[in-house]
Amino acid sequence: MDFYLNFPNNKLNKNATDRILSNSNSIDFHKKLSNYSISKLFKLENLSKKLNIKNVYVKDESTRFGLNAFKGLGASYAINKILTENSKINVFCTATDGNHGKAVAWSASINKKKSVVYVPRDTTKNRIDAIAKFGGEVIQLNMNYEETCNHAAKQCVLNNWLLVQDTSWVGYEKIPALIMSGYLTHFKEMEDSINLFQKPKIDIIFLQCGVGSWPASCIWYYMSRYKKNRPKIVLVEPNKASGVLRSFIENQRVSPKGNSKTIMAGLNCGIPSKNAWEIIKNGCDAVMTISDEYTMDAMRTLYNPEENDARIISGESGAAGLAGLIKCIKDPRLSKLNEHIELNSKSRILIFNTEGDTDRESFRSIVDL
Ligand SMILES: Cc1ncc(COP(=O)(O)O)c(C=O)c1O
Repeated sequence: MDFYLNFPNNKLNKNATDRILSNSNSIDFHKKLSNYSISKLFKLENLSKKLNIKNVYVKDESTRFGLNAFKGLGASYAINKILTENSKINVFCTATDGNHGKAVAWSASINKKKSVVYVPRDTTKNRIDAIAKFGGEVIQLNMNYEETCNHAAKQCVLNNWLLVQDTSWVGYEKIPALIMSGYLTHFKEMEDSINLFQKPKIDIIFLQCGVGSWPASCIWYYMSRYKKNRPKIVLVEPNKASGVLRSFIENQRVSPKGNSKTIMAGLNCGIPSKNAWEIIKNGCDAVMTISDEYTMDAMRTLYNPEENDARIISGESGAAGLAGLIKCIKDPRLSKLNEHIELNSKSRILIFNTEGDTDRESFRSIVDL
């Protein structure tokens, strides 16, 4: 099965994560950073005509803080909060398949702190170099993503480093919740355009999903701001690493099955985050999977715009939301999913380009440059 229809209860849990998200002042914090600017929101009118839907909006995170991905929103906010409580911490550590590690290295360096970043065996040299460029000490392990996270957590205990992980588990929830509350900035940035008071100007959001922290922050935002007027939300996972889909099927948080071979490095994760799963199951309408071919197609679609639509540079994980939309439209086996989310010619869709060409060589070969 490559999709799951959820019938969420639309309830926000009143727990510590909810309190941290409710108290987020991330946008005020981010506005004070020297290279902050609001990321662009494009309306791709000609693409929407081609796809026979009303509107496609793309929030483009490829220019965020010069990091080529949105992840700096989370790490910078969390590290600032941590240092406000304890300025003596010297080394921040994380496990990553790329973007989060770069964000931690950058956030540590702007606070004049060190970072140690563990990456799994499949992380490409280009992604490793990008983390090192921001001052991170990068250590590649012969492990998958989930094993790498466990290793990083153990090294933190042994070396007295602070773990800044973008996924949570029992007993490790506060820092991932701070990271999620940093992500809220880009939803708030749209409050004068599409996230209007009372009703948003969008009907469906497609969100690419790794451990689920980022999509959960989006779900939390729309649930708490709009309640029953929230847009429908679809999560999109790689078909070779679909932990959230499998967790829905088994009705509990489980690791994905399969060989985890996908070009969508940022989404190539293990078991979903605990904090995130608790939000996702209550507020997402469907989960679907896509193959690498679909995301490559979406990367090319964004790079080669229809008529005068904007050109958007989108990486393998960055384009996965659009890939999900394209699959819904192209693949007749998804008709039940389309009915469930009410995808039709009147739909106004929001997607996020969560990364640019984070592996430039791979990007160039995919878009045929
Ligand atoms: C580019 C990109 N998009 C989306 C995601 C998904 O975020 P999460 O792992 O919080 O689900 C990631 C995660 O690393 C990512 O790098």
